[in-house]
Amino acid sequence: MSIALLYERSETDEMGIKLTAQDLGIDVVFLPFRKIALTIGKTGFTAKTKGKDYTNAVKSAAVVLNRAQSKNRRLQAGYFMEMLGKKTINSSRIEFVCYSKLRTLLHFWTAGIPIPKTVYVPCDAVDTLKNGSLIHNEKDIADLLQNELALDEGLVIKPDAGTHGKGMVLSKNREQLLAGIQEIKPSIINPVGIVAQELIQKWFYDLRIIVSKEKGKAPVCHPVALARGGFRDFRTNTYLGNTVFDARIPFSIRELAVKCSQALGKDAEAWVLALDAMINVGENKTVDDAALISELKKAEEEYEKVRVVKQDETRLRDFQGWNRLLEEAFQRYKSTEPYEKVKSIIEESLEKNRDRVVFHEANSCPEFWEHTRLIAGMNVAVPLLKCAQSLI
Ligand SMILES: Nc1ncnc2c1ncn2[C@@H]1O[C@H](COP(=O)(O)OP(=O)(O)O)[C@@H](O)[C@H]1O
Ligand SMILES: [Mg+2]
Repeated sequence: MSIALLYERSETDEMGIKLTAQDLGIDVVFLPFRKIALTIGKTGFTAKTKGKDYTNAVKSAAVVLNRAQSKNRRLQAGYFMEMLGKKTINSSRIEFVCYSKLRTLLHFWTAGIPIPKTVYVPCDAVDTLKNGSLIHNEKDIADLLQNELALDEGLVIKPDAGTHGKGMVLSKNREQLLAGIQEIKPSIINPVGIVAQELIQKWFYDLRIIVSKEKGKAPVCHPVALARGGFRDFRTNTYLGNTVFDARIPFSIRELAVKCSQALGKDAEAWVLALDAMINVGENKTVDDAALISELKKAEEEYEKVRVVKQDETRLRDFQGWNRLLEEAFQRYKSTEPYEKVKSIIEESLEKNRDRVVFHEANSCPEFWEHTRLIAGMNVAVPLLKCAQSLI
């Protein structure tokens, strides 16, 4: 029985899992999910691309690492594989919860984990009647949100199934709120109405924390977080051009992260999750913004050199060679003075504000090869493969 890596496109992370599997001496078979026709019928099950038959590869897989990128396809892939009798990482139940920010928050909240205050209004901004006329709900939705959240401190609306900070709106007054609600259309990433949150006063950074669990063992939280920082936008996603730092996580936050993962993992035997957390720093800052902004700017300049390597197309032709250049570039970036300074500002503020953490999201299929591995020192391919092995 083997481990199968199910993927849509072979991107850096998938090539990284392949390289890591080779290093660890673990055999992995590859399933290019999007190109395969999966057939069920009287004569049984087949899995075929136009040129290749994957039926036996699927049949002999005991565990499937589900790396389909689209949330919907990932959910479908996991469910399909489980119905064929496979174990999956992550299980389709975990995928179902992580698919939705609201469902994730409900699990955190039920487990007593601190979260940003969240309001769900299951209504779309505009309804279209059968006769084609429109009903505008924007004002009612705004009233409901304002009843619960302090608008002048900032109110965030986010698509329930969104990623990469896409479609998120921040409002600080009624006009902005109405304009924001007007922008929101039902879509594949926003299928259920409006999810709104208090704006967490997180200063300039948030945290990505990796927790994993092998079968028969306790969950483990990697002690170093990937901190994503910058002042350019209230969203700190690296996708939006923010800079990255590593930060040691205070023990109490690690304990909470484990609790989060247990709230999501429930009775699953193994899982790998990337949690997003914010610190409500507010005015409890450890240095003044002017000094910080100048260090951040210098760190961003250093990071530009990493960005050049990241974008180098040799990645596709010579992954191992490119990976060496990438590792060197990150190493150089991490050894610069501005990096060290910003890192220590983050760690100091984390220590001082460790009681002000909130958890707001869990990613069941995180990107990791570049930032999480080379900044936070966690190659997520290792727990993925070890967790898979533990299930065989
Ligand atoms: N309630 C909030 N208050 C302040 N910032 C937020 C809030 N929610 C999200 N953000 C910022 O926006 C980013 C993206 O939001 P998140 O909920 O993680 O969605 P995504 O799936 O798009 O990453 C977060 O990393 C964080 O920096
Ligand atoms: Mg996020």
